Amino acid sequence: MSFYSLEIKDRVRNAAHIMVKKFSESVFRHEPVLVEEILSLFPSSFQNGWVLDCTFGAGGHTKAILNHYPSCSVIALDRDLYSIKWGLENIKSHFSEQSLRLIHANFHQYSDLMEHHFPLFMKTKGFDIIIVDLGVSSPQLDEADRGFSFYKEGPLDMRMDRRQSFTASDIINQWSEKQLMDLFYSYGEIYNVKPVVKALVKERKKSPIKTTKQLADLIIKKRGWRKKGAHPATSYFLALRLKVNNELEGLSENLPKMIQSLNIFGRVFVVTFHSLEDRIVKNIFRKEDKKIGNHLTKKVITPTREEIKRNPRARSAKLRVFEKEVNNELSAST
Ligand SMILES: C[S@@+](CC[C@H](N)C(=O)[O-])C[C@H]1O[C@@H](n2cnc3c(N)ncnc32)[C@H](O)[C@@H]1O
Repeated sequence: MSFYSLEIKDRVRNAAHIMVKKFSESVFRHEPVLVEEILSLFPSSFQNGWVLDCTFGAGGHTKAILNHYPSCSVIALDRDLYSIKWGLENIKSHFSEQSLRLIHANFHQYSDLMEHHFPLFMKTKGFDIIIVDLGVSSPQLDEADRGFSFYKEGPLDMRMDRRQSFTASDIINQWSEKQLMDLFYSYGEIYNVKPVVKALVKERKKSPIKTTKQLADLIIKKRGWRKKGAHPATSYFLALRLKVNNELEGLSENLPKMIQSLNIFGRVFVVTFHSLEDRIVKNIFRKEDKKIGNHLTKKVITPTREEIKRNPRARSAKLRVFEKEVNNELSAST
């Protein structure tokens, strides 16, 4: 399959129209969460199997897996070209050509990716481990011009994949009052959305709302904030990010396909950072439990106090694991 990673390398190299910054290791840093817990739940027989890391980010999980199991092979995806570019420049050379392949791709196109790009692989090998570590990476959050952070002045962007044209600005400046209320209510789980949405609609009539700070300040003005507890814009920004990147729908549609495609006794690990995502994972695992495998984490796994102290961004992380036990033909006939 090396032709594929080469093709990707070329695509990445040739993407001259996209300004790709040179990231140094120090600025492109993301502390991976729940690493020990994930490794401890790998099947005891796992040594030289195949791993799909659907959310490469800064490669924390991929690196930990390859260091722990030097004879396994990892195919890692990220929908953010910066992450893949950075991985090719900084991580790839630490491992052999066969051990790690990096692909600029979105796991929301799971069937397409597997059927069209890995048909032979899926028939002859297949994945033993699939990792999905949802949310944004620290570099995405820390780079003001990505528009994910309400603490930093940046454009209202929030696209993980910058080839996409739809941005947070389209939602804020073009959606109707009703659409905005529904979005913040259902994706942000905010119950009194009216004051902010009304103020926003009034403001954008004067001139478009262009930056993260403009939006965050408007929310603070309406909701108040004593600089204690969560920033009042947190849930609004979360709702926007989830919608811009189609995160919940993509997860619901593709997680069942991942489970189906695992090898027997293969496991899928999902790390979520908020209740809507965790509910989706829990419900899918519950639905499949005892049909084609086992939900191994009926009691969800969360980081230790030490991990949260070391890495406060881990505080809301939740890990769920599902093990595939029977093959698809068998499950279809029962
Ligand atoms: C929390 S970070 C992953 C961090 C990574 N596990 C590490 O240890 O460095 C999430 C990453 O997943 C990527 N991502 C989110 N949704 C994705 C999708 N649908 N397909 C591919 N990558 C995705 C984001 O661009 C981001 O880089």
